[in-house]
Amino acid sequence: MCSPRFFRVEYEINPWMDTGVPVDADLAVKQWERLREILIELGHTVHTLDPDPGLPDMVFAANGAFTVDGVAYGARFRFPQRGAEAAAHRAFYTTHGWPHTESAEINEGEGDFAYLPGVAGGLILAGYGFRTAPPAHAEAVEVLGRPIVPLHLTDPRFYHLDTALAALDDRTIAYYPGAFSAGSQRVLRRLFPDAVLADEADALDFGLNLVSDGRHVVLNSDAAALAARLAAAGFTPVPVELSELKKGGGSVKCCVAELRG
Ligand code: ARG
Repeated sequence: MCSPRFFRVEYEINPWMDTGVPVDADLAVKQWERLREILIELGHTVHTLDPDPGLPDMVFAANGAFTVDGVAYGARFRFPQRGAEAAAHRAFYTTHGWPHTESAEINEGEGDFAYLPGVAGGLILAGYGFRTAPPAHAEAVEVLGRPIVPLHLTDPRFYHLDTALAALDDRTIAYYPGAFSAGSQRVLRRLFPDAVLADEADALDFGLNLVSDGRHVVLNSDAAALAARLAAAGFTPVPVELSELKKGGGSVKCCVAELRG
């Protein structure tokens, strides 16, 4: 994770960002601290990157890389405003002894990659359409040695895969079908007949931008309807307020780069 100490909306690279809307940076830090505490209370180890005053989106740590089996596939950001974030993530992995592969292709890390260890020996779902470029999927297959299913995102409000789809446990996902092309919706129906389906309101509440340990599902407190459906499916929702970061177009998952050792 990375503190939102320098979080601002000073450019617009997704439909949620509006440079005319003020951000309460102190509140952003308070809300983010609470998210961090919740993850620690749930038993996770949380490492943090030092925020850089010149990189106002650095709080969205999910975008810096994608890891599987102790190997990190590094990000290459779509927009120049975020380009330098990749090096901060690379430095983290190299100092912690994780093999890190520099990517030649545009990809925004876990923002566009989800991992299901219990499907097909470890299946990667990969979004494209707005940020990650399709050639990055083939590159990630080579680096990570896992099968990848490309999924076409078609609604600009859901510009990263992690705004429209989430892994709930090793083999179960939740997703909003309307964020995907007709063909990708068919693929998801075939692969995940038992998925928890979200509707447009859930997705607009950033409910799918969640972090799950297979039981506890940490998600934006606005997404009360989705939380109720997750509870009915046997999960334990853990709501967290992240109103300020929503102004940057992100929520819980965007703040967390999972380290899969
Ligand atoms: N403002 C950031 C951007 O547009 C938000 C990134 C959200 N991250 C995510 N994993 N969805 O790049």
